[in-house]
Amino acid sequence: AAGGRGAGRLAGRHVLVSAGGTREPLDPVRFLGNRSSGKQGVAIARAALAAGARVTLVAAHLDVAAPEGAETVPVGSALEMREAMLEHAPRADAIVMAAAVADFRPRTERASKLKKRDDAADPVVELVRNPDILAELVQRRSATGQPQLIVGFAAETGDDDGTPLEYARAKLARKGCDLLVLNEVGTDASGAQRVFGRDENSVMILALAGGEPQHAAGSKDEVAAAVVRRMTDELAASEA
Ligand code: CTP
Ligand code: CA
Repeated sequence: AAGGRGAGRLAGRHVLVSAGGTREPLDPVRFLGNRSSGKQGVAIARAALAAGARVTLVAAHLDVAAPEGAETVPVGSALEMREAMLEHAPRADAIVMAAAVADFRPRTERASKLKKRDDAADPVVELVRNPDILAELVQRRSATGQPQLIVGFAAETGDDDGTPLEYARAKLARKGCDLLVLNEVGTDASGAQRVFGRDENSVMILALAGGEPQHAAGSKDEVAAAVVRRMTDELAASEA
């Protein structure tokens, strides 16, 4: 290994990362989307590459360039992302679901463009649930018994019923992944977007196994380095 802090520690490992935001087609020209820029997922891919891993990046509509050196698989919708993730999962030592996957998609994708009509009522879009890709990846792992580290992301806001941390713990237990990276989303006191599209980030890393949440803050690259360091430690510990 090249030494230094973590350089080469993922040599020989394959890391599968999803990034960006899915777009759910309404008709040939329209979609339902979200504000994810893909910056945090791309930063994770870059940090894994820097640690010596082979990286496959399943990329949905990134606002930023995919890192050189990663095998990039472009996808559009949640269903396409699901297919790509399940296809590449069997070869991955670690999986990071950093993408913002749409929870719902329009029930039907119209074959032709939706038109305004004066003689008919305005259309209503009916939505159906998308599959939970992260939960499926966890299921696939337990079904196959493949040793694999699975990391989820959670964007949470607090409300009267719970804090972001409480919601994140419940989500981690529900999904069954090994680590969950918690972001607080929404707007800050000045009304500015707190996470989406920004270069700075502040997260908590929670482990299914328990223990104190680990705080990491800084640029999205610094946060990514902290997440990849933690992943590297967990991979090493699972083999010890
Ligand atoms: N995720 C996924 N497939 C989905 C939705 C989410 O794989 N259909 C993944 C995300 O990539 C992320 C994690 O699940 O790693 C948590 O996403 P989040 O939207 O916070 O959780 P949801 O289960 O969708 O719950 P919520 O109702 O709070 O949105
Ligand atoms: Ca969601």
